[in-house]
Amino acid sequence: MLRLSERAKRLKPSATLAVNAKAKALKAKGIDVINLSAGEPDFDTPSYIKEACKKALDEGFTRYVPSAGIPELRMAVCERLKQDYGFSYSPEEVIITTGAKQALFNLLLTLVNPGDEVLIFSPYWVSYPAMVELADGVPVIIATSMEKGFEPEIEAVEKAITSKTVGIILNSPSNPTGLIYSPEFLKALGKLAQEKGLWIISDDIYDKLRFDFKSPENILSFVPEIRDRVFMVNGVSKTYAMTGWRIGWAVGPEEVIKKCAALQGQSTSHATAFAQKAAEVALTGPQDEVKKMCKAFTERARFLAEALKEIPGIELIPPEGTFYLFVKVSSYYGKEVDGIIIKDSVSFAEFLLEKARVAVVPGVAFGEDKFIRISFANSLENLKKAIRRIKEALKLIS
Ligand SMILES: Cc1ncc(COP(=O)(O)O)c(C=O)c1O
Repeated sequence: MLRLSERAKRLKPSATLAVNAKAKALKAKGIDVINLSAGEPDFDTPSYIKEACKKALDEGFTRYVPSAGIPELRMAVCERLKQDYGFSYSPEEVIITTGAKQALFNLLLTLVNPGDEVLIFSPYWVSYPAMVELADGVPVIIATSMEKGFEPEIEAVEKAITSKTVGIILNSPSNPTGLIYSPEFLKALGKLAQEKGLWIISDDIYDKLRFDFKSPENILSFVPEIRDRVFMVNGVSKTYAMTGWRIGWAVGPEEVIKKCAALQGQSTSHATAFAQKAAEVALTGPQDEVKKMCKAFTERARFLAEALKEIPGIELIPPEGTFYLFVKVSSYYGKEVDGIIIKDSVSFAEFLLEKARVAVVPGVAFGEDKFIRISFANSLENLKKAIRRIKEALKLIS
């Protein structure tokens, strides 16, 4: 019999896989499926960044580099934080990782003991609970409601804190809602974290994709006095359309960052050397491409929110950033169309795929089964086509 670790046994297959597999099968049959499930920008990495990578390769930048990352990229992260947020950090407080994902994973492995509880606000990015569990911690999910803008009640957060709670994960703008937590909430949360001695991991991966180029802000913008308990996680994946390059970082108290580097030193060693050179150029070079991308996402978000609102039975809050929209579709649950019984977000997504040939992610993957996530990392033309198809398909139900 296969002997697996308890950790491996706890790993669950992703709830989104079934719909994705079906979408791929339809595409393979030559059926024109519009994919609105993507978690990455539909733009190519800007050419000056690619050139920087080619140059690094040509110059032989192909060997081992320091575990915590190349000094010039750690410095570039500090400079961006200064420019974008006005925060002062030194390179010793920065670790470069293989995507933001590894930054989060390093932090959780460094900060969580078996049985420690980590607070996560629902709807959440799918990997947070899985990562906490991999670190032998316990994810404690705090419910929110669409009526209150998916922002938790501070009393509910306070109530969820026990003697085992060690920290909180925050993501704003959020995947999957595209919403930004209010300054009032962040202020109250920061004070609570201070009072209870909790650390905060602020996942800022979508911070530059705030619509209308709003300047980035996070909890430290409102509660600077908790600098010694906040870790900021970010990367080049979304901002510079560089998902496949796998460069991210964590910034925060030096002692913990050093431990993360030691952990990384024993696992992956470091993020790819020449990709770090390209990331440095992404951060220090012209930021026009980011603006262009953000402008396109802003336009698409506005179009999609308006168009979806007109469809009966659909509810949503227009997003303020990212390239996602979280849409309530539960008014359709309990209906049957051509043998498909719509009973939850997975069957609703399957229905859309079969009848509208539009692929979306079921909300259950983010802890909210009444919703689906629509990604607008796709052309305006395709979004318009998708709306027409969704409208037609939903007519089959009502
Ligand atoms: C909220 C959130 N955090 C982190 C990540 C991971 O980013 P990276 O590609 O840098 O690992 C993603 C990617 O989908 C995300 O949506």
